[in-house]
Amino acid sequence: MAFFAKKKNREELTESVLPLHIGIIMDGNGRWAKKRGLPRKAGHSAGAKTFRKITRYCSDIGIKYLTVYAFSTENWKRPEDEVKSLMKLFKSYLEEALADFKDDSIVVKFIGDKSQFDEDLQKLMIENEESSKNRDGMVLNIAMNYGSRDEIVRAVKNICDDVQSGKLSQDNINEQLISDYLYTAGQPDPDLIIRPSGEYRISNFLLWQSAYSEYVIMNKLWPDFEKSDLDEAIKIYSNRNRRYGGV
Ligand code: IPE
Ligand code: IPE
Ligand code: MG
Repeated sequence: MAFFAKKKNREELTESVLPLHIGIIMDGNGRWAKKRGLPRKAGHSAGAKTFRKITRYCSDIGIKYLTVYAFSTENWKRPEDEVKSLMKLFKSYLEEALADFKDDSIVVKFIGDKSQFDEDLQKLMIENEESSKNRDGMVLNIAMNYGSRDEIVRAVKNICDDVQSGKLSQDNINEQLISDYLYTAGQPDPDLIIRPSGEYRISNFLLWQSAYSEYVIMNKLWPDFEKSDLDEAIKIYSNRNRRYGGV
C-alpha cells in the first residue's frame, strides 16, 4: 500500500512514497559523548531528546507505525553505572512522555520483556500503554529489553503451550501465526529500518519482521540526527525497487 507524504515545506518529501512503518536503531549516543569529552550518560540524554523530536516529526508527517530500539537484551552487559543511568533516564522520560505524546494522539507500546525492569519502571510502562491505547494517532513501539531472538523463543514457547492445551493444532502453524505470537502482533512489518552511527548490522532488531525491510544506514550519530536526515532516509527508501523475490 503506498501512502504519500502529507504536504510539508520540503519539496523532496512531498514527492516521496511514505513508509507505513519505520524502525530506528537509535545508535551512537556513546560515541557522540566521547567526541565531546563527556560521560556516556550525557550521550544518552542527548539521544533521548532526539527520540522525542523525531517521534513527533514522524507523527506530523503521517507515519502510522514507528518502532524505536531503546535498550536491547544484550545491553545489560554494559557497566553497571551506565545501565543505572539509562534506567534513571527511562524513568524520568516516561513520566514526561505520558503528557507529551498525548497532544499528538500517539499510542505507546513497549515491546520486549518488561519483567526484568524494576517495579516503578514497569508501572510507568503499563500506565503509558493503558492511557494511550484508545488514541487514534501513530503507534509508537518502544523496544526495551528487546531482543528478536528472545522474542522468537517466547513465541515458540507460547505456541507449544497452546498446542499442548488444545487451543491450537499443529496444522494451524504458519508464517501468519508466528507473526501473531510476536510483540508486534497485528502490526504491518517495517518497510524502512534506519540505523544511524554507520554500523552495518542488525543487532537483534526485528529479525522476523524485517525479512523484506529496506535498510538505510546513515553516518550521523543518533544525538545529531535531524528531521532532514529522516527526510533523506525516506527519499532513499522511496527510490528503492522492492521486489520481494519477484522480478
Ligand atoms: C545507543 O547508543 C543507546 C543504547 C544502546 C542504549 P550506544 O550507547 O550504543 O552508543 P555507541 O554505539 O556506544 O556510540
Ligand atoms: C543496538 O545498539 C541497540 C540499541 C540501539 C538499543 P548496540 O550499540 O547495543 O549494538 P552493537 O553492540 O553495536 O551491535
Ligand atoms: Mg552502540
